[in-house]
Amino acid sequence: MNIMRVEAKQGRVDTTDTDALVLLFCDGEGLPKEDGALLDRGLGGTLRDLLQSKEFDGKAGEVVVFHTHGKIPAKRLILVGLGKRHELSLDQIRQAMGHAVKRVRQTRCGAFTVALPSVAPHGASSIDVGQTMTEGAILGSYQFTTYRSDAASMDVTAMTILAPRKDQLHQLSEGIRRGVATAEATAFVRDLCNHPSNVMTPTRIAQEAKTVAKEAGVNLKILEQKEMEKLGMGALLGVAKGSHEPPKFIILQYHGAKKKDDRPVVLVGKTITFDTGGISLKPAENMEQMKADMTGGAEVLAAMRAAARLKLPLNLISILPAAENMPGGRAMRPGDVVKTLSGKTVEVQNTDAEGRLILSDGLAYATRFKPAALIDIATLTGACVVALGQFAIGMFGTDATLKEAIREAGLRAGERVWEMPLWEEYFEQLRSDVADMRNIGGRGGGMITAALFLSKFVGDAPWIHLDIASTDWSERERAYIPKGPTGIGTRLLIQFLINRSL
Ligand code: BES
Ligand code: MN
Ligand code: ZN
Repeated sequence: MNIMRVEAKQGRVDTTDTDALVLLFCDGEGLPKEDGALLDRGLGGTLRDLLQSKEFDGKAGEVVVFHTHGKIPAKRLILVGLGKRHELSLDQIRQAMGHAVKRVRQTRCGAFTVALPSVAPHGASSIDVGQTMTEGAILGSYQFTTYRSDAASMDVTAMTILAPRKDQLHQLSEGIRRGVATAEATAFVRDLCNHPSNVMTPTRIAQEAKTVAKEAGVNLKILEQKEMEKLGMGALLGVAKGSHEPPKFIILQYHGAKKKDDRPVVLVGKTITFDTGGISLKPAENMEQMKADMTGGAEVLAAMRAAARLKLPLNLISILPAAENMPGGRAMRPGDVVKTLSGKTVEVQNTDAEGRLILSDGLAYATRFKPAALIDIATLTGACVVALGQFAIGMFGTDATLKEAIREAGLRAGERVWEMPLWEEYFEQLRSDVADMRNIGGRGGGMITAALFLSKFVGDAPWIHLDIASTDWSERERAYIPKGPTGIGTRLLIQFLINRSL
């Protein structure tokens, strides 16, 4: 996807020449006095009349377009509601920009201008507002048309944020820089997840990682099956056995910290390019959505690229254990015992609980880097969807400070997490009669037992586990979230890295 160009400019709403001028309104408030007066002087009161008629009052999601017939240089005005001022949040701005950009596209304008709103959410800086406006616009205009021959694709290619004062431009531009990085990363993740699994194989993921490494100038190491065997990654290899697609173990390393030997942040992403369930085969209904079972991996890859592009002053490692989970003559059977990289043995009672298996080897490998923070992100359990629905990511962790930082990043990104208990009591559900543990925990607390399973492979690293099975796929289109793969989690990770760098 081509990413929109975004820039900030100083100027006045009534003298700016643009195909479309977007104005953001709080519910029931009209325009800020100066802007309203300036525009109405040119428009002869049209705007005031419209607002007084109550045809548009600025409710969240409300959009009205009208033509200016040459009375001011802007050819049309697009009014977009922000909702009630006391409820104004960064996410309301993101959503308003998503609605705005879709309307801009409908009017077939390739470029548009948006006036910086005069109100900001409580505690938000101009950097935050610039970042958020940029994210909403880029993510709201996302489309995936690679495989559609009928795609009459119309792209909105440029957005200008118009600020009344010159001294606002510096902060706005920094916000835009961040917003472009996070939104572009999210679009990249959506693309990777949208590609079908006959294209997006572990081998193709490895190629994508190569491209990222080259472009972003980071180190890349790819372990092939032979090396995984030598190291003893029995869990990952067990999952991969049923597929003709060879597994890949991908490691990217970025050194941005002043001290080269600063302990790194290590990200591990579940990268199952398709999850049939294996011999414990899934039902047919919705199985196609399992092409996005590599969302976690795509997100840690995208976060790596963004961190390098933003030149964040930290050391970062992204790890993608990649495999396809298929049934077949060589596939792993229920009851098989695998020996993980950590040395612990696992009885595989259900081959559909494959995510925790590949992650056990991914996490054990990660501990070699002595992480300052170890974060895994995974479309791990259906139980997460049951517990949290669509609007919260499941969070588990061993370190209070780290959990707080993730919570804060999620809030800022509009990708919120909700903490679940990581209590040792639940481990009795994971006991096996033949091995150190089994890979399923029975009926109750499926999201929790999965997380507890992972906790056995992280050593003493400060660790966070994010279950994104709830949020990775959207059943409906929203303001800046498309139907299908959402890429949710990407901006949370990058925001966490940005905050950590400040
Ligand atoms: N990839 C699935 C989890 C999933 C389900 C993600 C729905 C997104 C939407 C995972 O590998 C899986 O199959 N988990 C099983 C575990 C069970 C066998 C213990 C599940 O949740 O059913
Ligand atoms: Mn599965
Ligand atoms: Zn899975």
